[in-house]
Amino acid sequence: MTSFNLGAGSAKISRLGMAAFAAVAAIAVGSADAASVTKSPFGKTKDGIAVDQYTLTNDNGASIKFISYGGIITEINVPDRWGRMGNVVLGFKTLQDYEAKSPYFGALVGRYANRIAGGKFAIGGKEYTLALNNGKNTLHGGNKGFDKNVWSVETLPSIPEAAAAKLTYVSKDGEEGYPGTLTVAVTYTFNNDNELIVGYEATTNKPTIVNLTSHSYFNLGGDGSGSIYDEILTINADKFTPVDAGGIPTGELTDVAGTPFDFRQGTPIGARIRSGDQQMVFGRGYDHNWVVNRQGGGMSFDARAYDPGTGRSLEIWSDQPGLQFYTGNFMDSTTVGAAGKQYRQGDGYCLETQHFPDSPNHPDFPTTLLKPGETYKTTTIHKFAADAS
Ligand code: BGC
Repeated sequence: MTSFNLGAGSAKISRLGMAAFAAVAAIAVGSADAASVTKSPFGKTKDGIAVDQYTLTNDNGASIKFISYGGIITEINVPDRWGRMGNVVLGFKTLQDYEAKSPYFGALVGRYANRIAGGKFAIGGKEYTLALNNGKNTLHGGNKGFDKNVWSVETLPSIPEAAAAKLTYVSKDGEEGYPGTLTVAVTYTFNNDNELIVGYEATTNKPTIVNLTSHSYFNLGGDGSGSIYDEILTINADKFTPVDAGGIPTGELTDVAGTPFDFRQGTPIGARIRSGDQQMVFGRGYDHNWVVNRQGGGMSFDARAYDPGTGRSLEIWSDQPGLQFYTGNFMDSTTVGAAGKQYRQGDGYCLETQHFPDSPNHPDFPTTLLKPGETYKTTTIHKFAADAS
C-alpha cells in the first residue's frame, strides 16, 4: 500500500486516505523512519458500511492497528527481549468474525462498560430501562454497544514523537435505552516510548451515565502462544468489589489481603485461579473490579504484567477509580483467532480501566453521572517494554 510521509513526529497517510486528509498532506516533509499512520480497507459490515484499518507506527517500527468498526484494536506489535516484534493482543482476521463472534476483542466499550443490574437505573427519580444482553443484566452497553458501531476516524498529524488518530461517535438520545445524545471522541496515540495512550472525551445534551473502556485481550507471549497463566501480574489495589453470581457488585469493598485477589506483589496469574474461592467460582476465574489505590486526582499506576518467557511487560496507568481484570473465562475453543489457533479460557486477559460496575445503582460508588455542560474526560496509558537480553 502506498503512503505519504509527513515527517518526524507526525503522520503518514495512505493514498486511500488522501481525499479526506488533503489539508494534512499539504504540510508533508520528512524522513522514511518517522512515526506514521496508514489506512487500508477492512471490508464492509453486514449492513454494507465500509470499514478501514489504520496502522500507527512509531519510530522504533512498533505499531498498533485498529479498525473503524468498534474502534477495535486488532494488533499491538511490540518487541520482546531479543527485539523481535510480536502481536500481543487477541483478534480475528476478518470483519465478519469480529461482527459474528467477538467477545469484545480490542473494542471501545460504552455507553456503560461492564454490568448494570437488571438493566435499570434512575436519574433524578426517573427510571431508565436498557436491553438485557447478559442474563438478567446489561453488559457493555447493551445489544449494540459502541463496540458494534462504525466510528469516524481522523488522523492527527501534529503530535510530536507519536502517531495518532481520533475516533468519534455520536450515540443518539435513547440509543440502547440511555438518555441524552452523547458525543464521544477517543484518541489513540502511539509514541516512541511504545506507549499507547487512549484519551476519552464525551459530552451530553441530557443527564446520562457514562463509563468507557478499551477491551483488549493481552497475551505478552504473543497472540496464539497459549495460556497467560505464567505471566506475573501486579495490581495496585488493597480492595476489590465482590460480586453476586451474576457478576453484579454486592456493594462491599473487600480487602484483597489473604485472598486470590491480592496482586500487590507480582504473582503468576494462574497461581490461585483454581483456589475454590467463591468469588472465583462466580467469575469462572478472575472477572472482577479492583479499587485502585489512588493518591488524589491525576494519573496513577494501576497494574503491571510481565511475561518471563519473552521479557515483555505492560504497565497500565490511568485516572480511573477501578480496574477490571478478566482472564478470558468464556473463551471455549469455538473460535479461531488471527494466528490460526483456537482461543481457550486463559489465552488472554483484559485490564479495563473504568468506573465500578453497576455504579448508577450504588450511591456509595464514585459517580458516573454526566450532565449537560460537563465533559467526561479520562486517559489510560499502556506502556510496553521488554527486559534486556
Ligand atoms: C466482563 C466479562 C465479560 C467480558 C466479555 C468483561 O469485561 O467483565 O464478564 O464476559 O467482558 O468479553
